[in-house]
Amino acid sequence: MIRFTDFPRFYPLRYRSSRHHVSRKVCPMIYLDYNATTPVPAEVVSAMIPFFTDRFYNPSSSYFEAQMVGQELAEARKLMGDLLSVRSDQVIWTSGGTESNNWALRGSLNYWRGHRQRILVSTMEHPSVTETAKAMMSEGIDVKFIPVDARGLIRVDVLDTLLDETTALVSVMLANNEIGTIQPVADIAQRAHRVGALVHTDASQAVGKIPVNMPLLNVDLLTVAGHKLYAPKGIGALILKADLDFPHGLQGGGQEEGRRSGTENVPGIIGLGKAAALAQQWFADKGPVKQRALRNQLENYLTESVPHCRIFGQQIPRLPNTLGLAVDGWIGGDLLSMCPELRAGTGSACHSVADEGSPTLGAMGIAPTLARGLVRLSLGRQTTSAEVLRAAQLLAEAVQGHSGLV
Ligand SMILES: Cc1ncc(COP(=O)(O)O)c(C=O)c1O
Repeated sequence: MIRFTDFPRFYPLRYRSSRHHVSRKVCPMIYLDYNATTPVPAEVVSAMIPFFTDRFYNPSSSYFEAQMVGQELAEARKLMGDLLSVRSDQVIWTSGGTESNNWALRGSLNYWRGHRQRILVSTMEHPSVTETAKAMMSEGIDVKFIPVDARGLIRVDVLDTLLDETTALVSVMLANNEIGTIQPVADIAQRAHRVGALVHTDASQAVGKIPVNMPLLNVDLLTVAGHKLYAPKGIGALILKADLDFPHGLQGGGQEEGRRSGTENVPGIIGLGKAAALAQQWFADKGPVKQRALRNQLENYLTESVPHCRIFGQQIPRLPNTLGLAVDGWIGGDLLSMCPELRAGTGSACHSVADEGSPTLGAMGIAPTLARGLVRLSLGRQTTSAEVLRAAQLLAEAVQGHSGLV
């Protein structure tokens, strides 16, 4: 059983920035924003602590104590490799999902040394991919965006027309951060490999939530973001296909076999290794099956009790923990501000979606009036049935009690 550190379950309402509630009452908090970030379990924290204190050594130093730290890093690398069914030497530690995604896109051009110049990314990617792609486009690189259909699935027919011998990289996320939809990455990789292109998948939201087997996905590069799988923030990985000679991410002292220089974030890496082991245990305990049942329970409550509620991504495979919904006539932030106990998202945590609406829903062709209504409810390993019921009640009461704020 996974134990979690005591993160706040109660909060003073006066800290809530809502124009509807100004009160000093203390309420229980329902956290349904695990796609934004996850708490760090006590086991992960205890595994990390010695590497801040007694075992603070730099693993590049030559003396015994430092070399022992290096061995612990090797063990963490093995745990991450096991989670993704790859060898340890395929795991390169980074500072998180953003760095790994930037590296994958920019590194792919160096990989081809100017022989291939085209980058294909889906319109549904996280900003760490889309903004990098747009920046590369402004630098003269041939970047093309692959559209998605109304269900949120990549248009493979369009992908096929964009693929040619100039394609350096195809980057398509495994699971969407806003509505949880899962792309057919193995099929996409097969198509891209026919023209010899590299394939990258941003698996930041998938790893730790569903079993991810990199060889079965058949991708060349895969992104991991630690804080989405119960490791701390500021640690992640880029996983390389076996024996892929991918250009380095950062130059300097030659750490990570010269692939990504910089003194290792030792406590972070130890924490991510432990989190990888806990994820394996959670899969063995059928965690995703139980979580899907809870998410479906929440979905049923919402469908029955929230008028004009639309749920996205239901027609295709989805993460077991994610539920993206919008209520006609409501802006997501306004709806959440009517539910002060509830902590949930209005899309990606990294940017404001108030004006344009959810980028994911926009890519799916959903009208901006509805796309602005996205509320993302994402469950965690310790979410309870009582919490999902209460969350549904709060949303239902908010919608039933008001005619909407737009
Ligand atoms: C799909 C996806 N990719 C990348 C990232 C960025 O990861 P990080 O916060 O580790 O930089 C996120 C974070 O929200 C994400 O959801």
